[in-house]
Formats: sequence, structure tokens, C-alpha cells
Amino acid sequence: MMKKLLIATHNADKVKEIRGILTGLDLNLVTLDEAGTFPPTVEDAPTLQGNALKKALEAFRATGIPAVADDTGLEVFYLNDAPGVYSSRYSGPGATYASNRKKLLSNLRGVPPRRRAAQFRCVVAFVPAAGVHHIFEGKCTGVITEKESGEGGFGYDPLFLPDGFAETFGEMALDKKNTLSHRAHAFQAFAEFLRRGGW
Ligand code: IMP
Repeated sequence: MMKKLLIATHNADKVKEIRGILTGLDLNLVTLDEAGTFPPTVEDAPTLQGNALKKALEAFRATGIPAVADDTGLEVFYLNDAPGVYSSRYSGPGATYASNRKKLLSNLRGVPPRRRAAQFRCVVAFVPAAGVHHIFEGKCTGVITEKESGEGGFGYDPLFLPDGFAETFGEMALDKKNTLSHRAHAFQAFAEFLRRGGW
């Protein structure tokens, strides 16, 4: 029988990416929206790993289905790794993807390209059973551009130019982003764990 795996996020953009990355594995993927309603996880841990684990654990406890969740941060070296774990609320209460990008551009105003290095870091937590968890991590390095390019992706994608490429994540086709992104690397490590019989 196919194993059921809960993708513990309400973010439709992430679900789309994660489904793309996990295709080919013999899994019955269920999303949080399909699994029923329960209160959203408060992401108040001080680390990406803490938040990822909290999301996966709470989803597993609420549904009884083995659950996987990710938490991602954009780390800009010039800004001492900010926004990091605060990436979703960088511009304060009521933050949107657009207001966060605006704040990032404003905090980097006048900073030359060679000092705009950054990385996305994605931590994936998998809770297959009570008292058990596994952690996987993926990174993607690049630079923060001086203006937005592209309408694809989500979050900071229009401002992130991955190293070795001439287009931002916002300009890139999703299946291409899915071969090189932080989330792709973290979920590929998770997929490899599953293929090798880790669960
Ligand atoms: P989360 O806490 O993992 O949902 O991610 C925090 C924030 O990071 C999101 O609100 C987005 O702004 C940003 N983010 C996460 N993943 C990506 C990505 O793949 N591209 C661009 N921004 C992202």
C-alpha cells in the first residue's frame, strides 16, 4: 500500500514546488488543507530548524499522518544574515511578499553588487512517528539584485539571482528552480532518505 505523507504547509506555492520535487516516489501526498482544520503553528522558534520541527510535529499530532514541513530563511551577508528566520515578517506586522522585498531593497540601497551576496537556507523536518524526527537542509547561494525582475515564484524570488545563472528565481521556470533551489536540495536529501528505506 502507498504510504501517506502530509505536506505540513498552507502555502500553495510551497506545495506546488514540493509536489514537483517528490514526484516519482511512491507516496500518497496529502496537504494540510485536505487533512482537516486545526490551528496554524505559531512560528516563534529562534531557528529555522525549531520552526520546521514545530510545524511537522503539530501537524502529525493533529492528524496522525507522518508529516514533513520546511522553514526557509533568506540570509544576506551584508545584513549579518538578516532577515533569516524573520524572512516572512521582515517589514513588520501585516508584512506581504512585496513589502518585504521593498524593505530589503531599501536596506541595501547603495550597496554594490559584490557586497550583495546572500543565500536561501531551507530546513526540512520529517516526523514519521511519535518521538521520532529527521532533519534535512539545503542551501542556494546568489546575490540580491538592485531591482525586481520576473513575476514567477514567490517571496523574495524576483530579487534573488542564483550563482551561475543569468535570471532571477522570479524569471525562472518552476521546473528549473526545482532543480537548484534551497528547497529542492533539502527535499532531494529527504527523498534520498526515503529511497534508501529510511522510512
Ligand atoms: P517560511 O517561514 O518557510 O514560510 O518562509 C519565510 C519567508 O521566506 C516566506 O514568507 C518568503 O518570503 C520567503 N521564502 C521562503 N521560500 C522562498 C523561496 O523559495 N523563494 C523566495 N522566498 C522564499
